[in-house]
Amino acid sequence: MTTVEFSPAAEPLAAKLLEPAREILARYPAGRERSALLPLLHLVQTEEGYVSPGGVAFCADVLGINKAQVGAVATFYTMYKRRPTGEYLVSVCTNTLCNVLGGQEIYDELVEHLGVGHDETTADGKITLEHAECLAACDYAPVVTVNYDFTVDQATPQSAVELVEHLRQGQRPTPSRGARICSLKEMQYQLAGFADPREGAVGDGVAGAPTLRGVRLAQEHGVAVAGFDTDTPITKTKPARDESALPPRTDAADKPVEDKPAEGRIAAVAKKAATAVRTAAGAVAEKVGEHRHAGKTTDTGDVKDPEVRAAESRNPTADTPGDPPTTTPAPGNPAEEAGTASNEPAGDGKPAGDTNRGERIVTERTAEQKPADVDPNPGWQNVPRATEEEK
Ligand code: FES
Repeated sequence: MTTVEFSPAAEPLAAKLLEPAREILARYPAGRERSALLPLLHLVQTEEGYVSPGGVAFCADVLGINKAQVGAVATFYTMYKRRPTGEYLVSVCTNTLCNVLGGQEIYDELVEHLGVGHDETTADGKITLEHAECLAACDYAPVVTVNYDFTVDQATPQSAVELVEHLRQGQRPTPSRGARICSLKEMQYQLAGFADPREGAVGDGVAGAPTLRGVRLAQEHGVAVAGFDTDTPITKTKPARDESALPPRTDAADKPVEDKPAEGRIAAVAKKAATAVRTAAGAVAEKVGEHRHAGKTTDTGDVKDPEVRAAESRNPTADTPGDPPTTTPAPGNPAEEAGTASNEPAGDGKPAGDTNRGERIVTERTAEQKPADVDPNPGWQNVPRATEEEK
C-alpha cells in the first residue's frame, strides 16, 4: 500500500487501524484491493462499534474510492451497523421456522423486558436488540444469538430474559454450543479476518442431535443415495473429476465433429433453424392470405384467430372480418336477449343496466358536496375558485 493522505475525518481511526488495514489489503492481489472493503468495515467496527462517518472516510481513503461507494456497501449488509451498538448484540430469529416455534414471543418478551425495539440499545449501553431473518440454525429453532454466536438453542421467553440479565450484570454465560461469548467489538476482529487469541474464542465440536435428525431418519428408513460410501473422506480441496466413474457417453453425445470447428457447428444449426422458421412463416402467411380472400376457413385448416372463432360460435350469424355485411341484426343468444331486455343500454364506462342509477348517484353526491358558492365544474366540484385578488 502506498502512502495514504488521510482526510481530517479519517485521521483518528488511521492512527489506530492503519497497520491492520495494511495487513488486510495485503491479502488481495494487486489491483483488487477494493475487495478488502468488507473486512475493512468490520475492522472499523472493532473500534467504533458501528460504521461511523470517520470509518467511512477511513475506508474510502485507504482504498482510494469515494465515500458514497463505501456507504453503498455498508448500508447493504445488516452486519454493518449504522448506529452505535451495545456491548452485546442479541439477535432473535423471527423467521418462519423459529416463528412457528415461538420466536416472535421471545422477541416480544425481550422488547418488553429491555424497553428497546429492533436495532435499539439499552440505556446502560449493554444490549442492542434485533430481530433477524434466519440465523442458519433452523434445526435448533427458535434460536437466539449473541454477537452472531449461537447462545440459546431452542430458546424460550424465559431463557432469553435470563440471558440478557446475565449479560447486563457483567457475566458471560456458557452458550448452548460453540465459542465463548465475547463482546461485539471482539467479534468484529474475527470477522475482519484476524485470529482471536482469547482462550475459547473459537468453538468446535460435533454436530448435535437436532442437526443429525434427518440423517438418523434416513438411516432408520433405509433411505440412501445409491452407491454412496459413508466412509468417503471429506476433502478440503475439490477432488479431480474421475472420468472412469461417469456413465459411458452415447454416440450422439460423444461423436466428435472433426471437420467442423464448434463455431461452424453453431452457425450450421442456426442456419437450419432460420430456414425452418422461414418455411413455417411462409406456410402461415399463405393460409392467412387464402382465408382473407375466401373469408372463411380453408380446406387446409382453420387459421382464424381463436377469439374470432369463439365469437363466431357464440353468435354464428354475426359479421366477421371478410364476411359480406349483413343488413339485419342476427338473432342473439336467448339468455342474452332476456338479460338485455330488462337492462337499458349502458353508457361508456358504466356497468350494464346501471346507467340511470349511476348517473343519479353521481348527481346526488355532487349536489350534497358542492358548496353553494362554487362554480359548476365537473372535475373540481369541491375546490372553491380563487378570486381575482388571490390569483
Ligand atoms: S428460521 Fe430461525 S434459524 Fe432459520
